[in-house]
This record gives sequence, structure tokens and C-alpha cells, in this order.
Amino acid sequence: ETHVFNWTTGWGTYNVDGTKERPVITCNGEWPWPDVTVNKGDRVEVYLNNGFDDRNTSLHFHGLFQNGTNQMDGPNMVVQCPIGPGDTFLYNFTVEDNVGTYWYHSHTAGQYQDGMRGTFVVQDKDDFPYDYDEDVVLQLGEWYHDVTDVLHHQFLSVYNPTGAEPIPQNLIMNNTRNNTWHVQPDTTYLLRLVNTGGFVSQYFWIEDHEMEVVEVDGVYTDRNTTNMIYITTAQRYSVLVHTKNSTDRNYAVMQKFDDTMLDKLPADLQLNTTNYMVYNADAELPDEDVVDELDFLDDFYLVPYNKVEALGDPDYRITVNVSMDNLINGINYAFFNNLTYVVPKVPTLMTALSAGEDAVNAEVYGSNTHSYVLGKDEIVEIVLNNLDSGTHPFHLHGHVFQTMVRDVAYDADTDVPHPYQEDDHPAFPEYPMLRDTIYVRPQSNFVIRFKADNPGVWFFHCHIEWHLTQGLAFVLIEDPQGIQERSSQQLTESSINACKSLGVPFE
Ligand code: C2O
Repeated sequence: ETHVFNWTTGWGTYNVDGTKERPVITCNGEWPWPDVTVNKGDRVEVYLNNGFDDRNTSLHFHGLFQNGTNQMDGPNMVVQCPIGPGDTFLYNFTVEDNVGTYWYHSHTAGQYQDGMRGTFVVQDKDDFPYDYDEDVVLQLGEWYHDVTDVLHHQFLSVYNPTGAEPIPQNLIMNNTRNNTWHVQPDTTYLLRLVNTGGFVSQYFWIEDHEMEVVEVDGVYTDRNTTNMIYITTAQRYSVLVHTKNSTDRNYAVMQKFDDTMLDKLPADLQLNTTNYMVYNADAELPDEDVVDELDFLDDFYLVPYNKVEALGDPDYRITVNVSMDNLINGINYAFFNNLTYVVPKVPTLMTALSAGEDAVNAEVYGSNTHSYVLGKDEIVEIVLNNLDSGTHPFHLHGHVFQTMVRDVAYDADTDVPHPYQEDDHPAFPEYPMLRDTIYVRPQSNFVIRFKADNPGVWFFHCHIEWHLTQGLAFVLIEDPQGIQERSSQQLTESSINACKSLGVPFE
């Protein structure tokens, strides 16, 4: 089946959280953006028309591997020129290798924090390993009362030398505050949780109901029962929830800020937000302040349903240290190994396609893109040492990766974090969890591995949008020869036109 979407961006005014009207980015004059469901094997064609008069845009389908369709991946100046005002870009790909819960979002200038995002579910009903009666998507998010432009301007300025991130005013669920979810008794729901926010992680729980985790970032897992989920921006969890037999009362569905991520706690910020699981429309709604003391599930110990064994020793290791500091201009930036990512003048994919044999040479991509060239089918290991005092959710495009280590590497005596040691680390799991977005705690590290079997240019970055604008990103050029050889990866008219109309020089 082919799904054709014709989407035009624009602005509208909405009161999303019930407290303040503000401009949001609309799709064909309406908001929210559509939630998309397709079946495995379907083709998706999105004609994205830039209806803004003063800014570029782009679209990324978060978590899709885009194997053979790298130029449809979205991040601007990584795989495409951004779409200029009045222009149209056709995102055209087949969903072959992905099943489960995903989302799509603008990959330009924090536009998804202004509402340009939606959920994207790939069904494979025949192969889903567990039984359920009904499939429900719960989109979790956060909401700011100001548009990203304004916040961004204040954030990246000499008046914010510590790089304190703007704090959202509210948490939202399915694009509203205090969302209502109507349920039937004695029914098993597959609840797909997607965090489409751009900053805070959230705790999620349902009063007096257990959840069985069965999918994480498009990877089916062994059942794992918990009563609380910790979900960073861009992550997804699918859980089975079995409802009660009786319809006497209704229950609270809770979201809570991970307040350790906030630089200060505004006096009027409500950390908990109550939503409602409604069995009985005539019964009372539960109190606003239901707070349970629960333990959240540690995703590190989930086991993938397919029992994929840990990859062996890496052929290639990338070690990066994360830090944040002021540049000489007094503005706070983020660094991997003292390099802050700067977008190149020519998208990195275009450079890879036109560089001929030089494409294997990381230097042709420019030092500020912080590029690493990966050989075909290499086992790649990324060791990330977080020297910063913040939690960061990192996302790799084009893959799921195995989570080998996530450690609190902190020397309590000296107050100094110690980096990951190859010969002294916690044991690797037998069947490591696979996901596309993983968080690292302050002064901690993680080690992830994947096989470089998807030729393409793939972005790796912190999914806190503020940190991406501070430069917390690097680029992988995976199998340059493979990129050049794949005919389907040759540029489409859309790709060429986007660059032409921005005057980007490439052949
Ligand atoms: Cu959700 Cu670079 O993406």
C-alpha cells in the first residue's frame, strides 16, 4: 500500500495547555499534526510544502533505518538542503525494516517544539508477539508558552552564560493537558508511549495498574512488568495494560518532570500532571495530587525478544567526552572532545556522493562537522563519557544499537568522573537491549555497539533540542563506497532542487 500525504507548514494560534494562547506550527492550517499508522512494507510519500515565508524546514522520521534512502532521513545539511520558503520536498520511502512505535518531526531549528511533530506507528499485526485487544497511542510532551525563536534567542546569548535551558510550563499528553483516556473493563491495551518533547525526561505511571513493557524504540522485548516508566525525549515504550473488571471508579494517569534536569525550579511549576483513565463517565475524576512512590524500570536490563547476542570486539572505536563551556564570545556551547558541531555549507551526504575516492577521508567533510568514516560491516563501538552535570538522551540515526554499558563513573573521593576503561568495566549483558535513543546520567558513561551495515550519512546527537543547537552532535559516514554505489541513493529531484534554490554549490 502507498500512503500519500500532502502537508503544508504554517502558523496558527492555539491554547494547547489551557493556560495560554501562542503561535504553533500547523499542518494544512490545522494543529496537531496527524498521527500516522502504516503497515510493514508500505510506501510512504510525504510532499512537504514549506508554507513559511521566512524560514526553512525539513522532516525526519525518527527511528526509521532509511536503508537505501538516506536522503529521506531529514536532518538539514546532514543529508539534505533544507526546504526553502515556497518549496516542496518529497519524502519517499518504503518501511521495510522497521516495526513498532516511531515519530516524525522537523529537523530544523527546534520547530518540533513549536508543534511540528506527530507519531508514526508501523503495524505488523501477524508478527506481533503478544496478544492485546486495542492499540492506543499516548503522545507525551512538554509545552512552552513562548515560541522556540524567542527562547532560542535568550538561550544562546551572553545573558545565559551557564547555558540554563528554558523550562517548559507544562507537561502534555496527546497534545492537551489533563488528557482523558476512555477504557473498557477487562481489556488488554497496547499503550504506545512516545515522548515527542525536546527537553525533559518524564516519569509515567498509572494509578493502581501495572504495565508490561513489550517494545522499546521499535524493538520487541521480553515481557517486563513495572509500575513506572522513565522516558526521555524521543524514546518510545509500548506497554500492555490490562484494565480492571469493575467500572466503579476512574484512575489517574500521571506524568512527572525529571526535575533533576531543570536548572532551577520555578515556584509555580507543577511537577506532576494528572490525566485520567476513565472507566465510568459518571464517576468522579481522581484527585490532581495522586503521587505514588514507585520504582521506574531500568531499560538497560530489558531483553530483546529476538535474543540477539552481544556483538564482539569492535573494529572501530569512537570515544567522545561531553562537556559544556563558554566560547570566547561568552555564549555557552556543547562539545564532543572540544569540538562543537557547526553545520557545513554543503550537506555531508552530497559531499560523500561527489568526493569520489576521497569520500573515505574524514577531512573532506570539514573539521567542524566532526565526521567519522566507518568501513563496511565494521563493528563500531561508541564510548561516551559524560563529564557534564546534566542528563543527556543521545540518538543515532539509521540504526538501533546494543547498549553494552551504562555506568555511573564517578569518583566520590576526588569528585572527578573517571572515563570508561576498556579493561575494567561492568559485565556486558548477554542479550543487550537495542534502542535508538539512550540516556546518560551526569558524570557517567555509556558504551554502545552496532554493525555498520547501513550505508549512509547518519547523525548522532543529543536529543535535547537546546543542546543540539549548542553543537552536541557528530556525523558518521558509513561505508562511503556503499553510499556511492547504491543507485537508489542518487539524488532525487527534490534533493537537487532544495540545494539549487538555496544556492548551495554542489555538482
Ligand atoms: Cu529525532 Cu536527529 O532526531
